[in-house]
Amino acid sequence: MRAHSSGVTIITMNSASGPTGFTASSVASVSLEPPLISFNISNRSTCLRAMQLTDSVLIHFLSDQQRHLAERFSGRITERFSPETEWSHLASGEPLLAGTRVWLRVGVQQRIPAGDHTIILGLVRDLSVPSDGKLLPAPLIYQNGKYHGAVPLPPSDPTASSHG
Ligand SMILES: Cc1cc2nc3c(=O)[nH]c(=O)nc-3n(C[C@H](O)[C@H](O)[C@H](O)COP(=O)(O)O)c2cc1C
Repeated sequence: MRAHSSGVTIITMNSASGPTGFTASSVASVSLEPPLISFNISNRSTCLRAMQLTDSVLIHFLSDQQRHLAERFSGRITERFSPETEWSHLASGEPLLAGTRVWLRVGVQQRIPAGDHTIILGLVRDLSVPSDGKLLPAPLIYQNGKYHGAVPLPPSDPTASSHG
């Protein structure tokens, strides 16, 4: 899977000891009606216990300006919600990382054991997405162990042969 490129998210939730969360690239769209998404959490994750108990998580879709957050939330657990991290509670309670324009608030519906991970299936309850797709921030991408930005390709040339 190192060859597969994916968008980078941070998934946050509340736990008995306060806010917690982790960087995740396994978020996937599952169903439009109802709106379901999935992601995977390692059974060794320090967030697993919180994930087993919470009924709601916030999925932050990171921009290419938020790489430092991706690094922080995949590093030491004590540094994730350290004083350097600006965040607030949504009215519904989930921890929201400052500066994140695109997010989904997701109700946990199923926890499915899958090897050394657990698949979380969730229902989208609320979202923040710019109404005009052109205003979407440029995404943060992960591939082959490195962070990348995304560069849109020019429109394809209809006169060019796809077989070269
Ligand atoms: C780009 C990236 C994507 C990741 N995606 C996931 C993921 O989808 N699920 C997961 O459990 N861990 C994922 N991780 C690992 C976690 O962010 C975290 O580093 C790991 O769980 C160790 O943290 P812990 O100390 O909380 O256990 C990813 C890490 C990176 C850097």
